[in-house]
Amino acid sequence: MVPPEFPRPLDRAAIAFVLDLVRGATFDDFLLAPQFSVVERRDPRAIDLSCRLTRRISLKRPIVSANMDTVTRAPMAIVQAEEGGIGIIDRGFRPGDIQPQVREVEIVKRTQHGIIRDPYSVTVDATLTEAKALMTRSRVGTLVVTDANGRLAGLLTERDIRFVTPDRLRVRDRMTPLDHLVVHRGPASLADAQRIMTERRVKKLPLVDDDGRLLGLITSRDIVRQRKLPFATRDEHGRLMVGAAIGATGDYLERAAELIKAGVDVLVIDIAHGHSVVMDRAIAELRKGHPDVDLIAGNIGTAEGAKFLLDRGVDAIKVGIGPGGGCTTRMTTSFGVPQAQALVECRTVVADSDVPLIADGGIRRHGALALALIFGGDTAMLGSAFAGTEEAPGEIVHKSVLLPEQQKAVKVPFKVLRGMASLEAIRDRLDVEDADRVELEAIGAEGMEISVPARGSARTIVRDMMKHLCSSISYGGADSLRDLRARFWATPSAYLIKLSASARRESYDR
Ligand code: XMP
Repeated sequence: MVPPEFPRPLDRAAIAFVLDLVRGATFDDFLLAPQFSVVERRDPRAIDLSCRLTRRISLKRPIVSANMDTVTRAPMAIVQAEEGGIGIIDRGFRPGDIQPQVREVEIVKRTQHGIIRDPYSVTVDATLTEAKALMTRSRVGTLVVTDANGRLAGLLTERDIRFVTPDRLRVRDRMTPLDHLVVHRGPASLADAQRIMTERRVKKLPLVDDDGRLLGLITSRDIVRQRKLPFATRDEHGRLMVGAAIGATGDYLERAAELIKAGVDVLVIDIAHGHSVVMDRAIAELRKGHPDVDLIAGNIGTAEGAKFLLDRGVDAIKVGIGPGGGCTTRMTTSFGVPQAQALVECRTVVADSDVPLIADGGIRRHGALALALIFGGDTAMLGSAFAGTEEAPGEIVHKSVLLPEQQKAVKVPFKVLRGMASLEAIRDRLDVEDADRVELEAIGAEGMEISVPARGSARTIVRDMMKHLCSSISYGGADSLRDLRARFWATPSAYLIKLSASARRESYDR
């Protein structure tokens, strides 16, 4: 049983005090007063940052990459899960076009696991052209080869087909046949596999049953990576975890079924206004077919919205109406809730339950993450923070930027971040390339497209964030994320400083 992330129940006087201060306020309206520090080293490997994503899924890092088509596809989800968080694959694919999203989920699930239960395979009679196509499609360099009866017949690697003309040749002509392979009969633990692979000096170990049928494949690369990534978010088979977003109308039920079949670990019904009749129907319909799937729903930004979702039995609630970097909802509608207020209000609603909150959007500097996680988020979802990284989808474009001090323009690499409700994202989703801007305006965009400087890997960003979060824990006099929350909510008046305009400038204007 995982201990509660926030004190349960929250102290009534503490709630009243914090609620009063956060009304109409967000992260940059606050500082936290430093406390007597008890940690010797601010080391993310030693400080416990574990948290809960949903009622059943725990993470070692409180980070979720946003389901946006310029943020999370398989490469981002892989890095997030390897680092201890999770990525949610967006649903920015066209209606009815379910397989592209399913494929992203499959890629994550197959990326690195202890034992690959159903490795990509071909038959001995397949052509090398077919095998090559499967390698390209799946981004996998070794295929298992089976005979007509489904028994292991060999392995085919990229190297085996590198310089051959594939047209006439069949897999049997180039594979390493069974009698040249080291194979283990029966199940094996990762430790056993490592011993066998070291002794026999092989990098791949297929496992077969007494009948020669494949039970799984273990690769030395996976064993090494497992060791290097101690915080990774894995399912019970050692595979990386991944989530996927679905809508609340259209093809969402079919999409959900296909994603579940592909092994998705958590579904997110994500719509702009989750406190709605549309959401009510969507949850009810989804639950009819999939009562047990881990289900996150959102977004909401009020206590009433949180209660609405709590009452419908979801496994986590996504909080955030309009704080996102690519979001224009507040400008276009004048509706929304400052994110600090939204998080505290929603926290008070779920305080007696075991349903976690995801603080979604508005984390523009690393320090805001600590506030999001103290005010109410069990985890935080970030979009723009990861846009522009190597793992974010999209091409790099070079733009001229003027350097005023040198009076010259230099070409700077950028990537695009776009709100999922921006005209550009809607245009792609709805398959309406020919529609003109005026027609699209009528749909009512609530997001925009912005350029963000291209930067390195999202892995570095997550690791930096975790170092800063550990520093926050140290300044807060705590020894873990859970302890920081407990201390804050025990005496919020010892921590919370509401800033004047000049104090805000002194703190955050640089
Ligand atoms: P950050 O601030 O991390 O926020 O970039 C990511 C979150 O922004 C939300 N999002 C949108 N909200 N219109 C909106 O109102 C949009 O077009 C839009 N696109 C993304 C979303 O919740 C995401 O996780």
